[in-house]
Amino acid sequence: MKVLFATPEFAPLVKTGGLGDVSAALPRALRALGHDVRVLMPAYGGMAALGTLQRVTPLPAWEGWPAAQLLHTELPDGQILWLLSCPALYPSSCTPYGDPEAPDLHAQALRFGLLSRVAAWLAMADNTTGWHADVLHANDWPAGLAPLYLRQLRDAPGAQRAGKSVVTLHNLAFQGVFPMHLADMLQVAPVHRGIEGVEYWGQLSMLKAALQFADAITTVSPTYAAEIQQPALGAGLDGVLRVRAASLHGILNGIDTSIWNPASDPLIAANYDSTTLARKAANTRALRARAGLAPSTAPLFGFVGRLTTQKGIDWILASAPRWLATGAQLVVLGRGDAALEHALLDLAQAHPGSVHATLGFDETQAHLIEAGADCFLMPSRFEPCGLNQMYSMAYGTPPVVTPTGGLADTVEDVGERLEQGTGFVMETASQEGFDAAIDRVLGAWRQPQLWKGIQQRGMARDFGWVNAARHYSAIYATLTDHTTG
Ligand code: ADP
Ligand code: GLC
Repeated sequence: MKVLFATPEFAPLVKTGGLGDVSAALPRALRALGHDVRVLMPAYGGMAALGTLQRVTPLPAWEGWPAAQLLHTELPDGQILWLLSCPALYPSSCTPYGDPEAPDLHAQALRFGLLSRVAAWLAMADNTTGWHADVLHANDWPAGLAPLYLRQLRDAPGAQRAGKSVVTLHNLAFQGVFPMHLADMLQVAPVHRGIEGVEYWGQLSMLKAALQFADAITTVSPTYAAEIQQPALGAGLDGVLRVRAASLHGILNGIDTSIWNPASDPLIAANYDSTTLARKAANTRALRARAGLAPSTAPLFGFVGRLTTQKGIDWILASAPRWLATGAQLVVLGRGDAALEHALLDLAQAHPGSVHATLGFDETQAHLIEAGADCFLMPSRFEPCGLNQMYSMAYGTPPVVTPTGGLADTVEDVGERLEQGTGFVMETASQEGFDAAIDRVLGAWRQPQLWKGIQQRGMARDFGWVNAARHYSAIYATLTDHTTG
């Protein structure tokens, strides 16, 4: 099948979180099943070039939209990446989601409106590129209008054959909500501006557009698929999701083991596998040295991620002084909310030699933390899937996680006797739950043989993409059979 994968991020070119990794890995896994998958992403100004430019297609002069082009590039692994070039919309200072402190809503709406408009066009049989998608696979709110635009094109008089649409929800907390007056500029047909369309508390929600108009909806773990149909984690869209429950599928993400594999990872200090776990210690030493932490026999805890309340970093901050006092240490890599960033720096200042915080985005250090930490902290309040806990298990770094979303679906608790499971699942998503889990970690750490068993069971788990790719493929097949049938 011909699949267009429309996304705002694609690693390593553009990545702010897990979506960047998924956008690179899932298309690769789908191609391995024989599908013809092309990735569509904006050509953000200042983005590094990767791969070779094959040709340039000017887009039709659509009234009301700025002139733009498609740059057809091919990456070294054969992936075709179509970059949407429009310097007026994606200037050199442009990061995917703009300045979170002072968002320019008009520019944001136009940026991702155009991405969605082009994606829909590429799923119409009469587009001028010589290729059209059987399935338009849209990701998150930045591509959320694509299923709506496809519906509008499909419903137009004399329309050519159109592909089907799938939307994947990577995080319902981000919805792309804009003032309703932008509906004219975005060319949302008046009939679709109401509650059965894009309307969300009087505003225009790009994500809701996808939920209403996509032919199928997926999200990134089975537990999250159930959670978002309830008010607590439905972010105001649980009602819409319940109505569409029959078309909603939870498919667990995988990890790309060609990139995240301690046996071959070029970004870590020493390679190892489950039979040579002793070599992991060289990574711990390297991480301590790099972070300026004192040598210690107590566990080194690691955290990598966006610094938002979603990730439970406040629970880590509140409990840290207690376990730091036992000799345990903490290394953090992240960026995000200013208040959390400051609190982390304060903690590091108060505990020199025991806590280190890097505020920024650093791929190499992320790999070294996965390899060098003894235990990975991921007490997210909610987590659609989460990749870091899977990376950490693959690296023999047992995680502490909340019983939610993809964390619940990927981490099995070690139990009281530590003879099963791959990590420490908190009983409740709360400060008390976190504190109790840390106590269990400290107890387990004193039993090296049992600890090693936890590491080895985690490393033996198969987190590859094959199952997920098969599941997506089956959904595509069901949708396209409808078209031909
Ligand atoms: P989310 O997508 O919610 O941010 P995931 O666990 O799915 O969470 O994915 C996060 C990805 O982003 C991982 O690959 C992680 O290593 C990476 N990442 C997050 N923050 C940073 C950072 N500050 N530096 C380097 N990598 C980071
Ligand atoms: C989102 C979610 C995360 C998920 C990632 C990739 O950013 O927060 O849980 O792993 O998308 O699907």
